[in-house]
Amino acid sequence: MRFFLDTADVDAIKKINELGLVDGVTTNPTIISREGRDFEEVIREISQIVAGPISAEVTALNPQDMIKEAEKMSKWSDNVVIKLPMTESGLQATRFLHQEGIKTNVTLVFSVSQGLMAAKSGATFVSPFVGRLDDIGVDGMELVSKLRQVFDRYGFETQIIAASIRNREHVEKAALNGAHIATIPPQLFENLWSHPLTDQGIIRFAEDWKKFEKNRG
Ligand code: G3P
Repeated sequence: MRFFLDTADVDAIKKINELGLVDGVTTNPTIISREGRDFEEVIREISQIVAGPISAEVTALNPQDMIKEAEKMSKWSDNVVIKLPMTESGLQATRFLHQEGIKTNVTLVFSVSQGLMAAKSGATFVSPFVGRLDDIGVDGMELVSKLRQVFDRYGFETQIIAASIRNREHVEKAALNGAHIATIPPQLFENLWSHPLTDQGIIRFAEDWKKFEKNRG
């Protein structure tokens, strides 16, 4: 199971990357706009920090312009992955880029059929949006599980990135349901190793040790 960070916040990426647990980074136009920085500059900087795949998303809506953007972005760094929307144009661009040997991440996936179309088009990654499905009362994690079943059954090499991850339970269920990767917002990351019972346990061990040492004289 791999962890990507779903952010373009370079300071947060540097800090969490020090733990050695970051296998890649995903961004989208919303995430990039939050930083208020030049797109190319941010992606280049991130790709120097993290060696794994760094997703950068196209904003064009037709396949020709998507491909032009993709070819430009893929020159920014060897580990840049082109993120494309799950549309007819996105699929056409995905197929073309796959033939060119450029890695892709098809995003905004909300159904098994969409994931299947992306995989058949040669997508390296697909990103089912778990939290946004939960928002409309559909179990987002069930989609992850079904995609994994279908990909395994037919031998697709496309990897599933559980995206739109909002809480610890999402990360745990992504692992249980066979997501190859979970892309996690940095603010959620530290919740993954903390637990109130761990904190209480540490305090208790320290108190008991103090008593023991005192009694020994
Ligand atoms: O990875 C997709 C993510 O950035 C979208 O998350 O919380 O806006 O649905 P959210």
